[in-house]
Amino acid sequence: MKKSYDMMLALAKIGELGTMTLDTSEILKQVVTITADIMKVDVCSIYLYDSSSYTLVLESTVGLKDNAVGNVRITPGEGITGRAAKQGRIVAARDVTLDKRNKYIPITGEEPFHSILSVPLKFQNDTIGVINVQTKKPRTFQKNERQLLKTIAHQVSGLLRNARLYESVLASNKELEEAHERLIESEKMAALGRLSATLSHELRNPLAGLKGASQLLSRKMDSNDERKQYVNLILEEVERLGNIAEDLIHFAKPGALQYDFIDANKIIEDLLLLFSEDLSKNGIVVRKRLSKLPLIKADRDKFKQVLVNIILNSIDAMPDGGELLISSSVRLSEGTDTEVATFQFKDSGKGIPDDVLSHVFEPFYTTKPEGVGLGLAVCKTIIEQHNGSISIQSYKKSNESSGTLISFEIPINKKIMKN
Ligand SMILES: Nc1ncnc2c1ncn2[C@@H]1O[C@H](COP(=O)(O)OP(=O)(O)OP(=O)(O)O)[C@@H](O)[C@H]1O
Ligand SMILES: [Mg+2]
Repeated sequence: MKKSYDMMLALAKIGELGTMTLDTSEILKQVVTITADIMKVDVCSIYLYDSSSYTLVLESTVGLKDNAVGNVRITPGEGITGRAAKQGRIVAARDVTLDKRNKYIPITGEEPFHSILSVPLKFQNDTIGVINVQTKKPRTFQKNERQLLKTIAHQVSGLLRNARLYESVLASNKELEEAHERLIESEKMAALGRLSATLSHELRNPLAGLKGASQLLSRKMDSNDERKQYVNLILEEVERLGNIAEDLIHFAKPGALQYDFIDANKIIEDLLLLFSEDLSKNGIVVRKRLSKLPLIKADRDKFKQVLVNIILNSIDAMPDGGELLISSSVRLSEGTDTEVATFQFKDSGKGIPDDVLSHVFEPFYTTKPEGVGLGLAVCKTIIEQHNGSISIQSYKKSNESSGTLISFEIPINKKIMKN
């Protein structure tokens, strides 16, 4: 009487697990502990079928070494456990070492376990694993013991099914949340775009007026008039604001591309000449590895703007000097016969921390006190308009030196020669 009461209690405890946790490994751990206790066996283990390796993997155990979990794998059909899984029915042996039908598979090499009772875990008609019990001494498992392990197996299958359902609900929830975030993000970008368009438009005319007026003032002043330096300061700042307004326009309303066939290497060389003073003043040495490129179909001014924004960032990143390596090359885009031109700008500057890296292409994201945060956002818009792509990574050559690598590529779209 006492015994059947204990069994009922054990089954009730296992049944309750589903209301207490949905953590699969916790459920299995509890099940093997309760089962080993109630059945007075030396080992209780649960194996689950892993469809990627076609094997049963030991997921939880009492009685076997802890490090066996996740490492012991049994092929369905192999040994008693494997046979229970393959045939989808209970298999028992009083003494496996004497059982001629089954190859005995020692599991950890430490035991002589003699008896075993294996019961498949099933979802409808599919076997998803096996629960088995083992004892050191030979033992014949009685009918009521077989029935008990079968009932436990049934309960475990239900618990596992619920836990997996719950996991899949969690996964779909997460997907939904991510889709929602992406939606908000694109709405935000659209709103930002509209705002930038209006703002830049409103800024353009007054800035042009300010510029004209201060140029006029400056011209009217004697070169030794000390007020002239103030007017020039106004001019400089107006110029800076004008550039920001231009960036805003680029970002907000990219505008149609003015296609041309450009010699990209020549543009790079010309720009470097333009920046040569800035670069040398900052102690930056430029190295070039420019491969011969065909003419590329692109918007000359916008292409220049991309290079300018990247070079300016590198100059900012190397206040104490360093090296800027610029390379260009051609490659075939994967799986197609489209040629793309690749450009890389690698500086030995301060590099970019991981938490900054994921934001650098966002408009108005900046870490600089004087920055606007449009440089890379504009680069990205322009490159994407050219059906290309741009990426950035921060690298560490050794412990003390770091740097940033910006790569972008655009399809070449060769000029078709007409004769
Ligand atoms: N070569 C680089 N080395 C280190 N950090 C960089 C580099 N390029 C970009 N960054 C980081 O990315 C941020 C965004 O760059 P982005 O060019 O978009 O804006 P910005 O340079 O801050 O402002 P601006 O609009 O004036 O260009 C920078 O503030 C900086 O933190
Ligand atoms: Mg910048």
